[in-house]
Amino acid sequence: MQAFQQLVFSGVQPTGNLHLGNYLGAITKFVALQDTHDCIYCVVDLHAITVAQKPSELTSNIREVTAAFIAAGIDPKKHIVFNQSQVAEHAELAWIFNCVARIGWLNRMTQFKEKAGKDRENASVGLYAYPTLMAADILVYRATHVPVGEDQKQHLELARDIAQKFNNDFLADNPAYADGKGFFPLPEPLIQGPATRVMSLRDGSKKMSKSDPSDNSRINLADDADTIAQKIRKAKTDPDALPSALDGLAGRPEADNLVGIYAALEDKTKLDILQQFGGGNFSTFKSALVDLTVAKLAPIGGEMRRLQADHAYIDSVLRDGANRARERAGATMSAVRDIVGFVR
Ligand code: TYM
Repeated sequence: MQAFQQLVFSGVQPTGNLHLGNYLGAITKFVALQDTHDCIYCVVDLHAITVAQKPSELTSNIREVTAAFIAAGIDPKKHIVFNQSQVAEHAELAWIFNCVARIGWLNRMTQFKEKAGKDRENASVGLYAYPTLMAADILVYRATHVPVGEDQKQHLELARDIAQKFNNDFLADNPAYADGKGFFPLPEPLIQGPATRVMSLRDGSKKMSKSDPSDNSRINLADDADTIAQKIRKAKTDPDALPSALDGLAGRPEADNLVGIYAALEDKTKLDILQQFGGGNFSTFKSALVDLTVAKLAPIGGEMRRLQADHAYIDSVLRDGANRARERAGATMSAVRDIVGFVR
């Protein structure tokens, strides 16, 4: 039913410690989609402040994510790279979506429950409304495709529900939209490949995360070759040999995770990797994984550090991206204001 022009949108929070999960689950997909789609990639600083951030660290983290995008291969001239707070339309549409989304919908969001923890009364209102801002990020450009890791699936479903309810609530009696196509598309999540949920290197039942207190749980994009090697050598495994078939990974989360990482870095399937390493021990496999990870990540880390230090360049990329993003977001918001019935 969708006759919307295809457009890719995604975002990454500038909360420090960008890691291999962010890279394989999201950033490599961002890079690949540039060849086939018009893409907008956003450093979501308004989302970052839903939990406390030190202002000076936030500034540096915004530049870090921008540098990582470019170092990984995103072209900010052909596509759009910017930080969310420079385009006020995100917050404006989020407010309207706060009035469309139902409290019951937000109460079901598992990420809020995880992040707020036991002290829910003390969580910010922003953390609770996080998913409506995320829906606004996507829909203010009327984006159709959203590459993300597995953990964002529920938020994407909510964005679709909000788009659908907005279309239902506001367009039913509007002759300009009598064709039934709707104003907002229902954005599709793109969650594919062997590394949509990269797990902690210390505990295969926990997601690799920026906020894990153990730095050994994750490989940071900024890690140098020695640190990457050390972390992989120390990664938790089990005493058995690697299996040769996929069902042999069942009940072995650490083995499954390392095989998934290898497959994603090589752009192959887990089965390909098991056919290569099945029957062998972990130390041989880990040595190959160290070589592969260092070959892929160390150059990105080096380039990222170089770019990140060039504030004038990074800030000019973000300003230019924001100017182009604002133009598109402004056009959507003009139409939204008319649809809702505001006088302007
Ligand atoms: P954030 O900053 O937590 O993560 C950025 C991207 O990395 C993915 N990711 C992972 N993928 C695989 N394995 C992991 N361990 C892992 N950890 C993180 C995330 O799924 C995400 O794709 N809410 C978003 C940011 C956002 C956004 C948006 C995304 C704000 N507005 C609009 C898409 C569209 C987030 O917290 O990302």
